[in-house]
Amino acid sequence: MEEIESKQSNAPKLKAQLFICITCGSKPEEAALLRSELKNHCREVYGKDKVRVTASKCLGQCQEAISAVMYPSGTWYAHLKPSDKQFLLSEIEKETKK
Ligand code: FES
Repeated sequence: MEEIESKQSNAPKLKAQLFICITCGSKPEEAALLRSELKNHCREVYGKDKVRVTASKCLGQCQEAISAVMYPSGTWYAHLKPSDKQFLLSEIEKETKK
């Protein structure tokens, strides 16, 4: 019997990862900007080995506004707007403490 090769990687174990759909809504550039601002903030506060804010294409939860999902909790967010930046930062902070 062949030995099963490990497929695990040495990627860092993240405290939180927020995937933001950057193709949602009538102004996808707003979603991309929101993601960029969150990413830059989180990189400064947490470093890239603890929290990531990742751009995603369709997450299968299309809304008229921006959709996102947080891991590891699997919490979904819908109807987001660029003005929800502080809300999402507080959600990320909560996720890191779970
Ligand atoms: S286009 Fe954003 S979730 Fe589908």
